[in-house]
Amino acid sequence: MEPDVLLKVNGREVPAAPGARLLDVLKDAGFFIPTLCDHPGLVPLGGCRLCLVEVREGRRTVLAASCLYPVERPVEVLTESPRVQAARRYLLTLLLARHPEVKAVTDLAARYGVRAKTRLEAEPEECILCLRCVRACAALGLNAIGTAWRGREKKVGPPFAEPPEACVGCGACAAVCPTGAIKVEETAERRRIWERDFTLVRCQRCGEPFATEEQLRWATRELTGSTPEEKLCPRCRRGAEAALIGRAFGLPAS
Ligand code: SF4
Ligand code: FES
Repeated sequence: MEPDVLLKVNGREVPAAPGARLLDVLKDAGFFIPTLCDHPGLVPLGGCRLCLVEVREGRRTVLAASCLYPVERPVEVLTESPRVQAARRYLLTLLLARHPEVKAVTDLAARYGVRAKTRLEAEPEECILCLRCVRACAALGLNAIGTAWRGREKKVGPPFAEPPEACVGCGACAAVCPTGAIKVEETAERRRIWERDFTLVRCQRCGEPFATEEQLRWATRELTGSTPEEKLCPRCRRGAEAALIGRAFGLPAS
């Protein structure tokens, strides 16, 4: 195993595994780093730039997006230098003008003392174009949503803004969205997302609705390649597996 790289962060020594993402190292060491587009389960994008920090190596200093920065050599890092704060305030001013009602934005703006000045949009938008939803859908191999248009017209959604055929209604996009921009309506029987309706399947043991029909078909095909004997929610499935293991080891049923 390669020895740790010793970073100096805001004057404090912080060991880091070679190749680790600087953002993870900083967060694990307890430093606050604002992020909007990052998500631990997704491929980093470097879109929001809020995670930028000052990295000094010898006489060279750069502002780097820490979510895209692999630790390779001992460097000095400043997480809240005047330059870093000025850059974050600038980015937050733009975000706040466009998304004045998005809590993830207003919380960070308040932390950095940024107040709304001009409103660039007649209609405030909930989507901050972090593309977490698109990356989550791509990570599942579904690619039901993507981006359309460019510049200020850029939007996230299904192709041709129509109910997406490839969508299985899993709701992963909505689960990783930091702003609540993706609307999911759910009753005991149905889930509606991206203007498409899905029928919910009930667990055959506890009766709770837990997945859409399309989601189960997709998961069965992708993950197991076989049809499960029983349609069980994750909680009942864990219970069933625990009972199976218990029986294999001759343990009494709980
Ligand atoms: S819908 Fe949500 S997750 Fe998708 S880009 Fe917009 S803010 Fe990000
Ligand atoms: S979290 Fe690094 S650019 Fe958004």
